[in-house]
Amino acid sequence: LGKIGKTEDEPGLVSYDPGFTNTASTRSSVTFIDGEKGILEYRGYPIEQLAEHSNYLEVAYLLINGELPTKEQYDAWEHEITFHTFVHENIKSLMQGFRYDAHPMGMLLSGVGGLSTFYPEARNISDPEVRHLQIVRMIAKMPTLGAWAFRHAQGKPYVYPDNDLSYAENFLAMLFKMSEPKFEADPRLAKALEILFILHADHEQNASANAVRSVGSTQVDPYSSLSAGIAALYGPLHGGANEAVLRMLRRIGDVSNVPAFIEGVKAGDERLMGFGHRVYKNYDPRATIIKKACDDVFEVTGVNPLLKIAVELEKIALEDEYFVKRKLYPNVDFYSGLIYEALQFPPEMFTVLFAIPRTAGWLAQWVELVDDKEQKIARPKQIYTGGRQLTFTPREQRW
Ligand code: ACO
Repeated sequence: LGKIGKTEDEPGLVSYDPGFTNTASTRSSVTFIDGEKGILEYRGYPIEQLAEHSNYLEVAYLLINGELPTKEQYDAWEHEITFHTFVHENIKSLMQGFRYDAHPMGMLLSGVGGLSTFYPEARNISDPEVRHLQIVRMIAKMPTLGAWAFRHAQGKPYVYPDNDLSYAENFLAMLFKMSEPKFEADPRLAKALEILFILHADHEQNASANAVRSVGSTQVDPYSSLSAGIAALYGPLHGGANEAVLRMLRRIGDVSNVPAFIEGVKAGDERLMGFGHRVYKNYDPRATIIKKACDDVFEVTGVNPLLKIAVELEKIALEDEYFVKRKLYPNVDFYSGLIYEALQFPPEMFTVLFAIPRTAGWLAQWVELVDDKEQKIARPKQIYTGGRQLTFTPREQRW
């Protein structure tokens, strides 16, 4: 495009890079991805080790603080989060005011945005103590808001948090508790949910993290930045692929139809949903972990008949020249929808189940942004393509 200067005296090269595919918008030490090799690390720790040995709250601490907690730090963190799970009754009224068929992501987005008005001190983002309190509040309250959005669609009363339960168990109780005094989630299901939460906790500069950073760069309060991230995730190109996988599997209907379906994909009729990734040109490491979690979940819930179709699709695709040549492997969404369905979640909830754990990554990146003195307000350049110096003709002469 040649040289375009800020002023005539100050020329400089401006790159045109829609979607930022080649332009780094920030420096970050939160998450590392090597797409060619299929590597994902949070703060340097491989995702496989975190999924096997850690839990979501510890991973959230790691992402936000940069280091694994000591026992005292973890206990204090868990205690704080557990005791901020309740939300103000007026936020409950706000949520109850939605139409009976409101999309839970729309409700979550509004609920989180609304929280900013309950904590006006959150605007003081330069005070680390104030920041810490808001971070705790957001991680604590997201499952409550997500579960209430789910109950709303079912016309069931909202369930208050139970602070004796773990993070995942409490979420499951707020979702599924009926009349019994104590809800006991099957530990294998709670564990599977923890693993899914860990896998979704961050993924460097994806569209929603970029939205959080962009809005956060105006120094607005973190609730407003977080709701921008939720809004970006609401979009079907970002958070909606696992729902599309389930629709595809249902349409295929039977293992015997898989070869014909694959031929259709190769002929360009449609895409094999849950395959391929902008960054991963190898097996998405999260997909491997999820596949293992599937077995544990199905042991409790019974096998989802769609799993057989998914396994057959993967088997054929991984041996087929078309997919091998294009480096198309299963991504995180290929199996996650099957687990969510087995856990009794309707498809509209899938993105909420992504947003809740991604809160840790969004906040880790928000803290990084606020602390980075070199960061500026996000204000990309443009290449102007419109007219110039036109002469305005008054209406009476134009009409
Ligand atoms: N099925 C069949 N062919 C595919 C698929 C697929 N799932 N994905 C890519 N291709 C083909 C393209 O047709 C193209 O072929 P060509 O070179 O002959 O034209 C080639 O592979 C490269 O595809 P691009 O679209 O350029 O790859 P890109 O990196 O831009 O796209 C994307 C990545 C959007 C994820 C794509 O693989 C896709 O649409 N996958 C299905 C949807 C999906 O699963 N999305 C979830 C992503 S994970 C997440 O967001 C959490």
